[in-house]
Amino acid sequence: MKKKTKPKKSENKKKRILVVFYSRSGNTKNVGNEIASILNADICEIESQHYNGILGYIKAGYQAVKKKKPLIRFSKNPDNYDTIIIGTPNWGSAMASPVRTFIEGREFISPAYFCLQGGSGGEKILKDFEQLCGKPLATMIINDPELKTDIHKNKINEFCEKIKQN
Ligand SMILES: Cc1cc2nc3c(=O)[nH]c(=O)nc-3n(C[C@H](O)[C@H](O)[C@H](O)COP(=O)(O)O)c2cc1C
Repeated sequence: MKKKTKPKKSENKKKRILVVFYSRSGNTKNVGNEIASILNADICEIESQHYNGILGYIKAGYQAVKKKKPLIRFSKNPDNYDTIIIGTPNWGSAMASPVRTFIEGREFISPAYFCLQGGSGGEKILKDFEQLCGKPLATMIINDPELKTDIHKNKINEFCEKIKQN
């Protein structure tokens, strides 16, 4: 496979940024939209089989922990971007299985990762991302209760600032 190279600084007019995420119940989607709006980035929602209801919840947890890779659809070509920001909900201290399908076999030059969660396990997911996709420009974990406060806004601003500086 041809190795990707970082564009030279002189070629680097305006950084093209893509926010890619999967979201079952909307939290990761909302945060992804906020990031895209701050960074003036394009956005791409990963679509997959449904995980509704209690059976969907069980299926989601099982697939994530077993590192399954369900079929997915998405509408943007990641190769057209300089920076890919990948967002996932925490499913049993693992990334959502549709996100795993997305990253499989793909090379990332300047990735960044964020994770939405009830309250624990996200660090393991960030480590997993780093192993699979490389060292990030920035990472962020937001806990569901923080979505009701300004804490999540501060975290998002800090995360975006790190990406802008790189
Ligand atoms: C199958 C499943 C497993 C989950 N496991 C965890 C977990 O291990 N730790 C945690 O903090 N939150 C866990 N959560 C909660 C979600 O990560 C959290 O509510 C997140 O904000 C949902 O994002 P979404 O609305 O984008 O789908 C789990 C949710 C689901 C559906």
